Amino acid sequence: MNIAIVGCGYVADMYMQTLPGLDGLTLLGAYDRDPARLAAFTAFHKIPAYPSMEALLADDRVAMVVNLTNPRSHHEVSLRALEAGRHVYSEKPLAMTMAEAEDLVAAAKVRGLGLAAAPCNHLSDVVQALAAELKAGRLGRVMLAQAEMDDGMVHMLDYKNWRSISGAPWAARDEFEVGCTMEHAGYQITPLVALFGPVRRVTAFNALLIPEKGKELGAEVSSPDLSIGMLEFDGGVVARLTNTIIAPSDRSLRVIGERGVATIPDVWEYHTPLRISATGMSYAARLSRKIEKKVSGVIPRLLIGRRLPVAHGRKVPRTQGGHRMDFSRGIAQLAAQIERGAPSMVGADLALHVTEVTLALQSPATAARAEVMRTSVS
Ligand SMILES: NC(=O)c1ccc[n+]([C@@H]2O[C@H](COP(=O)([O-])OP(=O)(O)OC[C@H]3O[C@@H](n4cnc5c(N)ncnc54)[C@H](O)[C@@H]3O)[C@@H](O)[C@H]2O)c1
Repeated sequence: MNIAIVGCGYVADMYMQTLPGLDGLTLLGAYDRDPARLAAFTAFHKIPAYPSMEALLADDRVAMVVNLTNPRSHHEVSLRALEAGRHVYSEKPLAMTMAEAEDLVAAAKVRGLGLAAAPCNHLSDVVQALAAELKAGRLGRVMLAQAEMDDGMVHMLDYKNWRSISGAPWAARDEFEVGCTMEHAGYQITPLVALFGPVRRVTAFNALLIPEKGKELGAEVSSPDLSIGMLEFDGGVVARLTNTIIAPSDRSLRVIGERGVATIPDVWEYHTPLRISATGMSYAARLSRKIEKKVSGVIPRLLIGRRLPVAHGRKVPRTQGGHRMDFSRGIAQLAAQIERGAPSMVGADLALHVTEVTLALQSPATAARAEVMRTSVS
């Protein structure tokens, strides 16, 4: 399928790194409303530049628009592409409000067009390996998932000097204003929904703990930099999901069944091995406990974890930040569904549901009932 990119910033370079080798996609060119960014990006990657959005949409060969603009431009750009009869794959979130997201879904459905949104990490080798384990019933009945999306202590890092491979600065102001929940929660919600089905209820807490971050860039931050949610799935599984950009990096997902625990160490890594063990304790934790108990004269039964071989569907290059995150896999999946009737793994319904859960975590209106304690200590 012929595709064109709109938005040539930081993440667009990561898509360019992961596009080669994907079946059935041909990139025709790119457009960005910032002429300097458009020129730098297209020169670096040696691809044609469209001078305007009109020019891009006037190119009849373009079947799908890949929307890599900033979140607050997603609705406008995706809607324009859909109205021009193009399938759309959008970076996350699908839109900034439910009304806008539903508008896009309706615009796609009425025209019979494909619409999907990142993240696509439920398509990763490791999440697919976990899905197979669950389907085979090897963990027994799943009760609980614990999902972390702590993206490091960003305010302490040198983010003003981060650059993508074609020279785009990291969009710090936008990231802080939009907030880490809207930016990152999908990386855990999407695999969770793929594994456990729809979410029925969300109980959320959120807080803005470092309001001054990005002030020097003119950022006006009112979005939370911490959110914690309890997700109850239709099937009875419950999940605790934490999002921050103020805590040490941890993007692990633990799925706890009656007969064992599966751990994905980092949901951004598509090739990381899945660890299955009786208790979910890491090897280091088990070893240190064994040593402690040996010292005290008790020799414990060492619980050996099982490391599954990862199905290397395709070699994913390391992108910015050193992750093996296959950004473009979702585009190829959407194209395969449209062109070849491949099983539906990405689409408008999933993107809309992930957006609704994300907004429930972000919005204070859904925050859990807060109870002020009557007792105290001095
Ligand atoms: N930066 C990351 O590490 C990263 C990683 C994963 C996903 N994302 C997601 O990717 C998207 C883009 O983020 P980014 O970091 O690349 O931002 P960015 O600011 O670096 O790039 C976005 C580009 O889109 C262009 N743009 C905005 N509105 C436009 C419009 N209406 N028409 C044409 N061009 C327009 C901007 O000029 C800019 O060059 C966001 O949804 C973000 O959540 C970012």
